[in-house]
Amino acid sequence: MIISAGADHGGFELKDRLVSFLRERGVTVIDNGTNSPESVDYPDFAKAVACDILEKQADFGLLVCGSGIGISIAANRFRGIRAALVTNADYARLSRQHNNANVIAFGGRFTTFEDAKSWLEIFLSTGFEGGRHERRVAKLDKLDF
Ligand code: RB5
Repeated sequence: MIISAGADHGGFELKDRLVSFLRERGVTVIDNGTNSPESVDYPDFAKAVACDILEKQADFGLLVCGSGIGISIAANRFRGIRAALVTNADYARLSRQHNNANVIAFGGRFTTFEDAKSWLEIFLSTGFEGGRHERRVAKLDKLDF
């Protein structure tokens, strides 16, 4: 499994700890930064992770900004990306089972490392249920205005 990770200055500390945690468990991680508290723009890191997934360089994405809101909004601008801002264990599970989410997003300023680690493990070990959800997820990529 290959995971592409990215964060802004509000999320890099949590992202860095999760990247280390994943690597210790033998997961290959592409770390797209940022890696310092210097102010940066979250859309740039959402884009890097989205491109890794859409170019099939990575299976899943991990994104963190201060709240998790901006970076998940940015990632969801890319057709084929389904980013879920996860704030509890049920959301981690449901985002996979019902939405086939391929990116998990956290708010670095509102999420402890222990919670994020546990929700990330749930996310990565839960499969998509398909069935009625398949039709709904397929419609996501056809939405247009
Ligand atoms: C940066 O200060 C902050 O706005 C950003 O990390 C994020 O919370 C945006 O949604």
